[in-house]
Amino acid sequence: MHPSYGAIETPKTPPVATTRRRALAVAIGLVVVFAALFVFHCLTVPGALHLTRTTSMEEGGAESETLVELHVRPQQLHLAYAGVEPGTAMTVSWTTYHRINDSAVWVAGHSFRNASHLAPHMASIASYYADDNYTLYTYHVTLRGLTPKTRYYYQVGSLGNATRRSSVFHFRTARPSNDNHSFEMLMYADFGERNAEATVSLVSALAERLDFIWHVGDISYADNAFHDLDKDVNALGFVYEKAYNAWMDSLEPTMHHVPYMTTVGNHEAECYSPACVYSAAKQAQLSNYSAYNTRFRMPSAESNGSHNMWYSWNHGPVHFVSVSSETDFVGAPSNNKGTHVPNGNFGDQLAWLEADLQRAVAERAERPWILVGSHRPVYGLKVFKPTGHPAKKQEAIMAAFEPLFLKYKVDMVVSGHQHAYERHLPVARNAPVLAGVSADRSVYDRPQAPVYMVSGACGSTDGHEPYNNIPAQTWNVMYDNEHYGVSLLKANRSVLSWQFVDAATGQAIDAFEIRKADD
Ligand SMILES: [Fe+2]
Repeated sequence: MHPSYGAIETPKTPPVATTRRRALAVAIGLVVVFAALFVFHCLTVPGALHLTRTTSMEEGGAESETLVELHVRPQQLHLAYAGVEPGTAMTVSWTTYHRINDSAVWVAGHSFRNASHLAPHMASIASYYADDNYTLYTYHVTLRGLTPKTRYYYQVGSLGNATRRSSVFHFRTARPSNDNHSFEMLMYADFGERNAEATVSLVSALAERLDFIWHVGDISYADNAFHDLDKDVNALGFVYEKAYNAWMDSLEPTMHHVPYMTTVGNHEAECYSPACVYSAAKQAQLSNYSAYNTRFRMPSAESNGSHNMWYSWNHGPVHFVSVSSETDFVGAPSNNKGTHVPNGNFGDQLAWLEADLQRAVAERAERPWILVGSHRPVYGLKVFKPTGHPAKKQEAIMAAFEPLFLKYKVDMVVSGHQHAYERHLPVARNAPVLAGVSADRSVYDRPQAPVYMVSGACGSTDGHEPYNNIPAQTWNVMYDNEHYGVSLLKANRSVLSWQFVDAATGQAIDAFEIRKADD
């Protein structure tokens, strides 16, 4: 039985009406207080009346309105490619703290004047967590029948209450497979809040030129957020949701117009803080990747995948495959750090992966590149011993995935988990495959094995990965554990150009390209 996410859930104690009444009471109270202060101010400060009238109406009105609307206002908007045919669908997702049953999306191809002239696309509502003080509802709408490589304008929010809607934003649909132009995208992993300020800025600065972003696991580090609590006074503090929401807020200005594809990482597994370990209700709600699988909506239905755990999609000349290095293969990590809820059991991942790669290879004339995202690396400096052999836990990941990557000639595998950047040579069975690799290693011309990358340097509480006395490996080209940054990929049918970009300066720290024969 697969875990079920995305169903409409009703909290045991419906907090909506209660909290709404509380919010209303607070707002009314504040209005009364502001009114009293205003009268007092006008009576006691000569000449204050004219100036104060303007500022009071703007600030007091805005403040009370903000208090009331905070819980019903759409926020954390994000997008994901959808549809079997690239460019024909887009999933729009957002959240509110109160449940808005009539949530919808309006979309227009050219100019967006007024939602009332457009047909609403009603949202599904999902919730994975509620307690006495907090609820979060996530809304998903998959817009279909779109034209590839086309800009659309959209708005989300309440059908019946126009004040509870977002601004009008825009997105661009995916490229069709016969698109011959180059496109750019970001790939990265391990992105928390702390130490990631420069990365947030860089991602935002690059956003306009990107087709999409692929975040290959460890999204927000909400599970680690309790480490920052003052343990002496607040050891049982619950901050998982607060941290996740804050991280989503920080990326929202990018995610509301650049599709944000995600891969599962170990930090998506569960909440393991004392507040969660000592609460059966929290454990039940926040274990087994529930937040990750509810907040995001990847195109797994279209690709016969499972939730956001594994799925694939096509974009221009590339077939992208997102796999779970965390669950559902022999020897997969359990990621149980504090709870006893079994994690995993999402299906037969490897059978799905083989079928997906088989189909991708059959369509290789249409899409020559196959790129895989796997949070944990198959090849990474920190999971190999000085002898050149993989660490014990690493053997399971290699045994599960590498034979399939070799069999179906996957071009590139992008990972993170190590909080650093690593570039490797084409590798097969723990040996570099040097055919086509230039002497300076800046060009891999028609490489004969998958190229493995680690790009986990976005920044998080853990900071930079220590590489003290790290043993060299025959398949490694270089590593960088001193800079925070992201990987920028420029792709067309014949070349993948890769850069690792320093978040602090915007300069490339590493660059190389992979070439295919022109067809
Ligand atoms: Fe990780």
